[in-house]
Amino acid sequence: IIPLHMAFLLVSAYLLLTHAQGAPAEHGALLETLKSQVGLFSNKSEHYSAQVRPPGTSRQIPQTIIIGVRKGGTRALLEMLDIHPNIVVAATEVHFFDWDENYVKGIDWYRSLMPFSYGNQITIEKTPGYFTSPQAPGRIHDMNSSIKLLLILRDPTERVISDYTQVYYNRVESHKPVQLFEDIVIKNGALNTKYKAIQRSLYDVHMEKWLKHFSLDQIHIVDGNTLIKDPLPELQKVERFLNLPSRIMSSNFYFNQTKGFYCIRSDGRERCLHESKGRPHPLVNNTVLEQLYSYFREHNAKFYRMVNHSFDWH
Ligand code: A3P
Repeated sequence: IIPLHMAFLLVSAYLLLTHAQGAPAEHGALLETLKSQVGLFSNKSEHYSAQVRPPGTSRQIPQTIIIGVRKGGTRALLEMLDIHPNIVVAATEVHFFDWDENYVKGIDWYRSLMPFSYGNQITIEKTPGYFTSPQAPGRIHDMNSSIKLLLILRDPTERVISDYTQVYYNRVESHKPVQLFEDIVIKNGALNTKYKAIQRSLYDVHMEKWLKHFSLDQIHIVDGNTLIKDPLPELQKVERFLNLPSRIMSSNFYFNQTKGFYCIRSDGRERCLHESKGRPHPLVNNTVLEQLYSYFREHNAKFYRMVNHSFDWH
């Protein structure tokens, strides 16, 4: 068994090597970003995203949006919900409510990016950037004040490390210099609280903005740590929140030892998430970890009070 940090180093070394030798075009950063955004497609999504409209279907504005958080497990949640026959999902991250250049294109542009659906199906899109966007809550409320929102969160420190890991790989792939996690997170001996990845993990700060526009019962929080360990119960809670019949079964999941994560079995196919999901993390210095845990502790406590629910975070 290779420890995670060793795997991280090995993969990094491999990436540097392939680039030094002139990596093939398909290893390009842009493509990787796209692939990581898309994650995987199911037969159902491919079918409904098709340009040709199947009879009896139309494109609908989402009745539910996965608003984040980045690296919380948003792709896994979307793909797992896509198993449900009454759910169709947008294939890519739309960034309608958080990017001004998309928002000005208007609601018809937004709808045009949604898959075709039947009357008994709900459309879901996920854009993890919405959770931390100052504009997204108000804009989503303007579109549909009674919308149901899904938010998937994981331990804030783990999320920071996952965020760092994603940026690390993207930088390696586009030949940009990389820094050690500790060198970014600690500046002049103190925690660098301006680091964007740390800011994104301040769940209380972001949640406060959403609760100015939506009531708590409109926002269902999925425990991203639990979704990794045991996906079905978390998905059943979402089915109930969306008032959908229970259709996702334990037989829809199998644990893939090589990937170290649950993969999906549906439509007669078995598939794991893209390789950019579930990557090994670097081994982080214990003192730095403790500094992060203690920084987030107060924010977490405030968040628990805000949502009347505690999580098993450090
Ligand atoms: P890591 O790659 O850091 O482990 P997002 O899709 O929001 O970017 O979240 C990515 C995270 O989803 C991964 O972070 C991984 O931990 C988590 N995840 C949850 N369930 C997963 C699954 N079944 N397969 C792969 N990754 C999963």
